[in-house]
Amino acid sequence: MDLDQPTVPLPGEVRMPLLGFGTWQATGKAGYDAVLAALDAGYRHIDTATMYGNEEEVGRAVQESGLRREDVFLTTKLPPERVGRERETIEASLRALGTDHVDLWLVHWPPSNPADSIPVWRELLAARDEGLARAVGVSNYSTAQIDELIQATEENPAVNQIPWSPFLYDRQRHIEHRDRGVVLEGYSPFKRSDLSDPVLTRIAGAHGVSPAQVVLRWHIDHEIVVIPKSVTPERIRANADVFQFALTAEEMRDIDALGGT
Ligand SMILES: NC(=O)c1ccc[n+]([C@@H]2O[C@H](COP(=O)([O-])OP(=O)(O)OC[C@H]3O[C@@H](n4cnc5c(N)ncnc54)[C@H](OP(=O)(O)O)[C@@H]3O)[C@@H](O)[C@H]2O)c1
Repeated sequence: MDLDQPTVPLPGEVRMPLLGFGTWQATGKAGYDAVLAALDAGYRHIDTATMYGNEEEVGRAVQESGLRREDVFLTTKLPPERVGRERETIEASLRALGTDHVDLWLVHWPPSNPADSIPVWRELLAARDEGLARAVGVSNYSTAQIDELIQATEENPAVNQIPWSPFLYDRQRHIEHRDRGVVLEGYSPFKRSDLSDPVLTRIAGAHGVSPAQVVLRWHIDHEIVVIPKSVTPERIRANADVFQFALTAEEMRDIDALGGT
């Protein structure tokens, strides 16, 4: 991947762009158009899932973008009710996406039966070892649930994708991920934020950007992966335009304080 955007290293020489594009609820033609617009706007990381029902549209947009497959980081996710059918699920994802591997495959959320957790994780590791996914991880896992996987297999998830925003900022939880070599990937950066908060509007005003752009830049400066979703072309472009300004250390601290920790 040849990129002028910031990335974070994952095991196996994989580099994950800190800015990605979310696609939940972006389906059909709207989903295809949004992903194509995102790639045109400069995103090089797309987040989808079996559950989103849009892998085909995502795959088609990547193919028709004219970009090389290796220049786009693709994530998809296993619905945990597919326990015992992991292999057929990733094969279906790859067929729909029109590729022979994804860059990251996540367990979408912890299996409802905790006894399934480790067998599912072993299936992900097997898929990685066979080259179907370059890296594997989890989503919506607690630190204790991550520790169980590490204890059983000595393999840490490369990533944990969880809800995150300035208003959910939890320094301790971030440190727990770092200590285990797990990259924190935040989701729902806007839905979990009050974009009219005076701290965000003041900082946005000082830089001539929007509060949404401040929220995204704050994630990136913490080296937390962020995956804003939009189907609106102007927002898709604005959400990618977050590398032209920098937050000061004091602004970072003021935004951190919105999380109350
Ligand atoms: N692992 C999980 O369990 C999980 C759960 C939730 C989400 N995710 C992933 O994370 C991605 C992002 O989260 P999300 O879709 O829940 O929420 P989000 O990205 O926080 O918010 C999306 C909403 O914000 C609007 N929006 C986009 N840009 C904006 C801007 N600049 N200013 C104001 N509003 C803006 C969008 O509207 P328009 O689209 O109408 O422009 C949409 O309504 C998802 O798409 C999905 O890929 C993962």
